[in-house]
Amino acid sequence: MAFNDRMTVQQNEVSQPIPVWDWPVRLFHWLLALAVAGLVLTGQEGGDAMSQHALFGYGVLGLLGFRLIWGFIGSPTARFSQFLASPRQVLAYWRLSRDEKANWLGHSPPGAYAVMLMLTLLLAQALTGLMADDEIAFTGPLAAAVPGSWSAWATWYHKSIGKPAILSMIALHLSAIAYYAIILRIPLLGAMIFGKRELQGSRVKASERQNDA
Ligand code: HEM
Ligand code: HEM
Repeated sequence: MAFNDRMTVQQNEVSQPIPVWDWPVRLFHWLLALAVAGLVLTGQEGGDAMSQHALFGYGVLGLLGFRLIWGFIGSPTARFSQFLASPRQVLAYWRLSRDEKANWLGHSPPGAYAVMLMLTLLLAQALTGLMADDEIAFTGPLAAAVPGSWSAWATWYHKSIGKPAILSMIALHLSAIAYYAIILRIPLLGAMIFGKRELQGSRVKASERQNDA
């Protein structure tokens, strides 16, 4: 390879990553993922692990409170007003080509529905947890303050509805990210770690740069 060719290859690789997720959203996301993993493990374990379960649960409540506020005042991709979509927009998104999908910044319309469902399920799980009673090792702090039938219902929801629903949503979440990465060749993970993503066509050839100048 001639020297000039090598230079061209190197300069072609100069890319301009675009900011996607601000650092508070990224920190929120990874703390949430850790806390939910801890909640599933401690919830399954029961017994002495329940005091840690409650601490993780309060952590999730705090994180969800932060995300609610950040959905109004965060950077554009973090805002609900930017990513909440109508069913018509979901259908329109499915019809986009792979390259158009690759250039989508932030949550896609179907992704936005999944994110809102996951956040709602987590909030319902944390709130029912506060009223739950395992009748062995741990009682949620609000269990005694509400009628017994509420506490029984909350415990049933927490174990029989919320838990499988959240586990299913996490499986769907990870499958969707793997589908984008492996089948569509659209890597979403890097942006949730580093904040930025290189878009299709953002690789600028040296010659184009000179023409621009
Ligand atoms: C318990 C585990 C997890 C939960 C509860 C969770 C939840 C979420 C939520 C709520 C969002 C939306 C972020 C926001 O707008 O605030 C999100 C986005 C995202 N998550 Fe997770 N997550 C989990 C695990 C993971 C893991 C293990 C990965 C990596 C493989 C991952 C990769 C991503 C990516 C790449 C996005 C951005 C998707 C996009 O571009 O639209 N998540 N996740
Ligand atoms: C989003 C947050 C939460 C998640 C994902 C979660 C998840 C779980 C899971 C997976 C279990 C095991 C259920 C089973 O035995 O099949 C469990 C049990 C339990 N959780 Fe949570 N939890 C959360 C928040 C809380 C909070 C905030 C509290 C109270 C402070 C709480 C109190 C309980 C209690 C008392 C049980 C035992 C129920 C029983 O075995 O009868 N949880 N949780």
